[in-house]
Amino acid sequence: MTANDFLVLGGTGKTGKRVVSQLRAAGHTARAASRSGDTRFDWHDESTWEAAIDGVRAVYMVDLVDEAVEWDPAVSVRTFCKRAQAAGVRRVVLLQARTDQDAGGKSLVGSEGEVQESGLEWTILRPTWFTQNFDEGILLDGVREGLIRIPAGQGLEPFIDCEDVAAVAVAALVEDKHVGEIYEMTGPTPITFGDAAEILSRVLGREVRYEPVTAEEYVAAQVAQGLPEDYAGMLADLIGQIRDGRNAHLSDGVQRALGREPMDFETYARAAAATGVWNV
Ligand SMILES: NC(=O)c1ccc[n+]([C@@H]2O[C@H](COP(=O)([O-])OP(=O)(O)OC[C@H]3O[C@@H](n4cnc5c(N)ncnc54)[C@H](OP(=O)(O)O)[C@@H]3O)[C@@H](O)[C@H]2O)c1
Repeated sequence: MTANDFLVLGGTGKTGKRVVSQLRAAGHTARAASRSGDTRFDWHDESTWEAAIDGVRAVYMVDLVDEAVEWDPAVSVRTFCKRAQAAGVRRVVLLQARTDQDAGGKSLVGSEGEVQESGLEWTILRPTWFTQNFDEGILLDGVREGLIRIPAGQGLEPFIDCEDVAAVAVAALVEDKHVGEIYEMTGPTPITFGDAAEILSRVLGREVRYEPVTAEEYVAAQVAQGLPEDYAGMLADLIGQIRDGRNAHLSDGVQRALGREPMDFETYARAAAATGVWNV
């Protein structure tokens, strides 16, 4: 692939913004697309799609499966891929998750078939839980407050850094050898939330505790904070996949795609702490 105009959906999110900055740092042009991005793109407003895909050769795709909204890939992803192909897009790199279990009654890998059958060149990324959930996602408040209360028990999770997810995405957007690959990927070491809290305590120089709660307690707390009950239930299901040990194994997608080891949790924690995001 020689043309260098890339469309990055979810371009303001945890992975997408890193895909944009890594593409630009490598000398490519990239459009950061979302409802609030430089390039306006709304999955629920097809009138925003045409301008976003015009002149683009490859797309990084983040779907809405883990947002608190209606989401049907057989409608949205299928239609988007048809439009993209007609507009001259050749390749799509799809972000999904490393799971074969539904959460909240939804498949978390439901967009895969649509992309695989689209006629576009495709690569699928299936990462495990992001380290960035601790500073940009659902665990941020807990780290700031010094108490993480989730229903993960003593389950092990090999958290992956979004910088690594983005690096694999960029390789797949730019290089031909990743076409048709499904990259399951994790960080280097499975750790419990207790281990993560210990590392965060050491890095921050103040105590961060982990307190396992039941799924019911977690859902009630999230609903009390304003989350819709079905969305809170989906999060509880996802966390339950850590608790039951299903996520503990390692996957080698980063190594296969990039020929290097993924970053570890402590390296992530030191970099995030240096931004001041957890200062209280
Ligand atoms: N968190 C994890 O640990 C984890 C692990 C594995 C896989 N995943 C997968 O990662 C994906 C989420 O990716 P992410 O974490 O990089 O994103 P994210 O940080 O959750 O951000 C969501 C992105 O989607 C955009 N967005 C939201 N609603 C939109 C709409 N209606 N139309 C267009 N864009 C919209 C947001 O920007 P605007 O608000 O500006 O529109 C933002 O850029 C999900 O598919 C999830 O299953 C997550």
